[in-house]
Amino acid sequence: MKNILVLGASGQIGSELTGELRKIYGSDHVVGGDINLNVSCELKESGPYEYIDIRDGEKIVEVIKKYNIDTIYNLVALLSAVGEQKPQFSWEINIGGLMTVLEIAREHKCAVFTPSSIGAFGPTTPPDHTPQDTIMRPTTIYGISKAAGELLSDYYYLKYGVDTRSVRYPGLISYKTLPGGGTTDYAVEIFYEAIKTKKYKSPLPQGTFLDMMYMPDAIRAAIDLMEADPARLVHRNSFNVTAMSFDPEILAGEIKKHIPDFVLGYEINPVLVKIANSWPNSMDDSCARSEWGWKPQYDLSAMTAEMLERLGEKLK
Ligand code: NAD
Ligand code: SER
Repeated sequence: MKNILVLGASGQIGSELTGELRKIYGSDHVVGGDINLNVSCELKESGPYEYIDIRDGEKIVEVIKKYNIDTIYNLVALLSAVGEQKPQFSWEINIGGLMTVLEIAREHKCAVFTPSSIGAFGPTTPPDHTPQDTIMRPTTIYGISKAAGELLSDYYYLKYGVDTRSVRYPGLISYKTLPGGGTTDYAVEIFYEAIKTKKYKSPLPQGTFLDMMYMPDAIRAAIDLMEADPARLVHRNSFNVTAMSFDPEILAGEIKKHIPDFVLGYEINPVLVKIANSWPNSMDDSCARSEWGWKPQYDLSAMTAEMLERLGEKLK
């Protein structure tokens, strides 16, 4: 039985991943850790939950010893939009934090999952069917930290044998916890506004295509990769994974199938546009498919129907 520590457990991914891991491995075997203690009862009461600042290596070691941890899901990061406002702090958290985790993993023999992102790519990356192995010259501090994080994680695997694995997540869409300040957040906000006011102003213009994924697929990707047979893995840090690619118009069109009087407008945010334009339109995830059996279950239509249904219940 694995003993797992989820760092960043109260975030958009962590708040759902922690629960799913508890279902699979048992509540007492999955510890949530975060600087945020203001979390749902479900998260705090369904298993152990600890105050952990990723910069505090001593506290991480204390928790690892207390719960006999052998696997760390490191979800702590400042996302792309927030990162541009605080580049130095973003580096400290994203890379300083990762370095702390990898050093502890080396010493205490833990496997480590650290998500990368579409943000690891840059304006000179081929934007369509972006290959697994290609040009990576990101221009945001977030992307730079993600590209460096991939290399650092591979380094710890190659030099020290630390079992590091990662996926390059696209924008993630979910109804449970709001996203934490990324460029793709519009694809979540649009659902809240569609239900509450039947209108939404997109910060990204028509024609801005980005890869996206519904949260249940993202959670499955993380768990399946960490369970994958290491002998089959040619790559480790990090795998392209995607489920759909759309622009604001296509997403609005799908929402209109359920809410016919929904109106999409635009209030363009140039900072977000610049970031989005430097990222791929759609990634090729064939390596993830062949090396560990990745296959998304939700397309645009299934994701939209479920988001509107679940969010509708939540916002009643
Ligand atoms: P999030 O911002 O929702 O959550 C991050 C969590 O980290 C928060 O709960 C926050 O309280 C915690 N945190 C911040 N600073 C901390 C610190 N010093 N010590 C401990 N905890 C701290 O982020 P997310 O969307 O859940 O993303 C998780 C990971 O997935 C990140 O690496 C992110 O880059 C990556 N990712 C996310 C998306 C997405 O669309 N959500 C897409 C691609 C990659
Ligand atoms: N959703 C994330 C962001 O926009 C992608 O990594 O920052």
